[in-house]
Amino acid sequence: MADALGVLVIHGPNLNLLGTREPEIYGTTTLEEIDADLEAAGKQRGCQIECCQSNHEGVLIDRIQEARGWASGILINPAGLTHSSVGLRDALVATELPVVEVHLSNIFAREEFRHHSYVSGIAVGLVSGFGVDSYRLGLDALLSHLDRS
Ligand code: DQA
Repeated sequence: MADALGVLVIHGPNLNLLGTREPEIYGTTTLEEIDADLEAAGKQRGCQIECCQSNHEGVLIDRIQEARGWASGILINPAGLTHSSVGLRDALVATELPVVEVHLSNIFAREEFRHHSYVSGIAVGLVSGFGVDSYRLGLDALLSHLDRS
């Protein structure tokens, strides 16, 4: 994979429950369906997509650290860690890779504690509130950014 364009997709805690978790907020699409859609979209643009979901912060940080060796960028929905994790932010910064942050819901239209993100300040940009489309929009934005850089 060394010379091919690669994107690491990171999904944070509880996103494995998509499809049945608070469907009125997060919709009914499963994580497997989201990953399949991103992989297909990546393939069309000659990009290898590797997806990782974990409920464990350290596992996500390990995967982010490893991305430095092969990925060109990172698409991340940090889920609850968005609002709490300096460690995740530090790991993203350490990769020196462009990061696009995505959220299914509009975090700014929800509880106040969701309004702050530790990731937004180090991301190229943020897509929030478009349901599963947030992922596709985020991937398109990241690939366009990589095309330009
Ligand atoms: C979320 C928003 C977060 O506030 C929440 O903790 C999640 C999902 C979203 O995709 O809308 O788990 O990241």
